[in-house]
Amino acid sequence: MAVYEDLRGKRVLVTGSSSGIGQAAAVAFARQGCFVGVHYFQTRSGGEETLRQVKAVSDGCLLCADMRDEKQVERLVRDFVSAAGGLDILINNAGTMLARESIEEMTLEFYEDVFATNCRSVFLATRFALQHLKQSSGCIVNVGSVAGHHGGGGGSGIYAAAKSAVHMMTIAMAREFAPYGIRVNTVVPGLIETRFHERFSTPERRQKVAQETPLGRNGTAEDVAKVMLFLASREADFITGEYIAVNGGLYMRA
Ligand SMILES: NC(=O)c1ccc[n+]([C@@H]2O[C@H](COP(=O)([O-])OP(=O)(O)OC[C@H]3O[C@@H](n4cnc5c(N)ncnc54)[C@H](OP(=O)(O)O)[C@@H]3O)[C@@H](O)[C@H]2O)c1
Repeated sequence: MAVYEDLRGKRVLVTGSSSGIGQAAAVAFARQGCFVGVHYFQTRSGGEETLRQVKAVSDGCLLCADMRDEKQVERLVRDFVSAAGGLDILINNAGTMLARESIEEMTLEFYEDVFATNCRSVFLATRFALQHLKQSSGCIVNVGSVAGHHGGGGGSGIYAAAKSAVHMMTIAMAREFAPYGIRVNTVVPGLIETRFHERFSTPERRQKVAQETPLGRNGTAEDVAKVMLFLASREADFITGEYIAVNGGLYMRA
């Protein structure tokens, strides 16, 4: 991976870094010499494994929070800032589909949970991080989804709607925070081979998507992490309110 000298020493909080894309991001930022806040919710062992990899190359701390819960997110940001001495980069990665459910049969509770997990989480973390990002003229990278562009595969319609809201929140935040020198961007993954698709897609579906992808494969968590590094680095210092799709050409927009 590229080395971004300006990232050395930055304090980075990566939500949902007990697994998949977040884990790869935490390790990638650590390799740049960042202090990394490794966050988990239910998978403590995954968080511990990420922290082990982070500490092998840099330094960091382990934090737990349910990102749907206002008080827990407030504590997460507070604990990170007291461990790191400040906050330069917030990676709003935590999220999941929860299950494939048709809109016709979905309960209100499930609908609310999907939005809380993928959208409220971004809002809460950003709101509590903002005072610290103002001090550092830091930046935010949100994680959207190709589903947020095309509506998603079977049973992921409300997840797609929540991710589409994340895409628009990125633009709203970018406008509002620009006067503080804070940039906000989104990475928009296509099908990335993580626990996410082990849970929600059959091997046949994953293979079919790979065959339909112009670059001929599904993505890896590292494919996404290296774009996060770029967006957080000085190389992207005139980019805000933008998204970068990481999908091998699976979905292209003019
Ligand atoms: N994989 C893909 O193809 C793909 C495509 C587009 C977008 N994305 C997005 O990329 C992000 C990372 O996904 P992934 O593929 O790396 O999935 P993953 O391996 O399942 O990881 C999901 C992460 O989110 C955390 N998380 C889920 N619900 C949470 C909650 N209520 N509170 C706190 N943390 C929570 C999990 O923590 P615990 O396990 O510790 O609970 C885990 O660290 C998600 O936002 C996902 O929607 C993924």
